[in-house]
Amino acid sequence: MSQQLESYQDEIYLTGMTGTAPDFPTDLTLLEEAARAGMTPQAYDYVAGSAGAEDTARENLEAFRRWRIVPRMLTDVSTPSYASTVLGTEMTVPFMLAPVGVLAIAHKEAELAVARAAAAQRVPMVVSTAASTAMEEVAAANGEGQRWYQLYWPKDRAVAASMLGRAQAAGYSVLVVTLDTRMLAWRPRDLANGYLPFLRGVGVQNYVSDPAFQASLAGLPGGADAAVLRWTQIFGDTSLTWDDLPFLRQHWNGPIVLKGILSASDALRAAAAGLDGIIVSNHGGRQVDGEIAALDALPAVAEAVGGRLTILFDSGIRSGADILKALALGAQAVLLGRPYVYGLALGGEAGVRHVLRALRQDFELTMRLTGLAGLSDLGPDCLQRRPGAGRVASAD
Ligand SMILES: Cc1cc2nc3c(=O)[nH]c(=O)nc-3n(C[C@H](O)[C@H](O)[C@H](O)COP(=O)(O)O)c2cc1C
Repeated sequence: MSQQLESYQDEIYLTGMTGTAPDFPTDLTLLEEAARAGMTPQAYDYVAGSAGAEDTARENLEAFRRWRIVPRMLTDVSTPSYASTVLGTEMTVPFMLAPVGVLAIAHKEAELAVARAAAAQRVPMVVSTAASTAMEEVAAANGEGQRWYQLYWPKDRAVAASMLGRAQAAGYSVLVVTLDTRMLAWRPRDLANGYLPFLRGVGVQNYVSDPAFQASLAGLPGGADAAVLRWTQIFGDTSLTWDDLPFLRQHWNGPIVLKGILSASDALRAAAAGLDGIIVSNHGGRQVDGEIAALDALPAVAEAVGGRLTILFDSGIRSGADILKALALGAQAVLLGRPYVYGLALGGEAGVRHVLRALRQDFELTMRLTGLAGLSDLGPDCLQRRPGAGRVASAD
């Protein structure tokens, strides 16, 4: 057992000697089922559901199974370090929390519980425009923690500029701009439930707390309905193109990352446009059903822009082995999505902390047992395709 790294494993086994078992699942793939019992059916479906027949959501997970880890024996893993710096953010382990909106549907303490857990575990978090708590309150709960801000670029440019100014003032250091959600996809579970949290006033808190947004309500009938109506009018801008990106530089003083890149050609455009990083992601299969698994998009993107852009990854991370695989295929760090939301639903701050500690320990143990003492030891040679799985397309 590790002496150098914090050992959640040791703690669990020692506590087990007194007959006490962990409060939450240690197999992180069981979190979803465990969380389901404590959530309303509508909230559970909103988190667990994806676009269309959920083919891409399944494929995201399946893509990880097609890569197998090939360990190396007799390497010195006595003093491992998996720390790194990503766009100025110090990471003790190479994962952070993905932006997930409307967390109040999972737990009453919502983003505040996540922000506290992230700070305590020194895991950076990306806070969503669609948060159910205003970004300043999340920042206060996050304290000395490291936080990035995710923008859903609204049609109203005054609101966009105002949100970016607020985020910088509240200590968010990196801007993540999500490109794949200019409108919401056809999501059968939510449609069947007739359930969209925003229309019930959940997930609009960064808007209603915004001075530019408030000013834009002038002339509309008063009350909460006006804010929700205005939200529906400005949420997404379907006219945006690559030519609009300079607006972000004018209003953001720091690194900018584009989230939702799935092709080498778009990654090259991002590099040419002077962006700092990209997140290879398909939004957890929640937007275009039938699209490529995010992991299958990663090798070609890494081949095209590796070394020029910071490459991050999400969509399907469920275990330490998954993190190892994404890093071996070219990501510098990954973002954890649904699993921490299930942790939140299960136990608020304590539930999120459990998920972060378990994932960290699983990752560290998997790395060491694979013979890897540092992140620089990772590369495609750590992996092999599962027999019969076929090749993944390259950039050319
Ligand atoms: C309930 C839910 C809400 C989400 N909200 C946002 C959001 O507000 N902004 C964003 O960029 N991505 C959002 N995402 C996508 C995540 O950032 C991430 O891309 C996705 O969860 C990765 O897939 P996985 O959770 O299956 O691994 C959301 C995902 C879920 C499940």
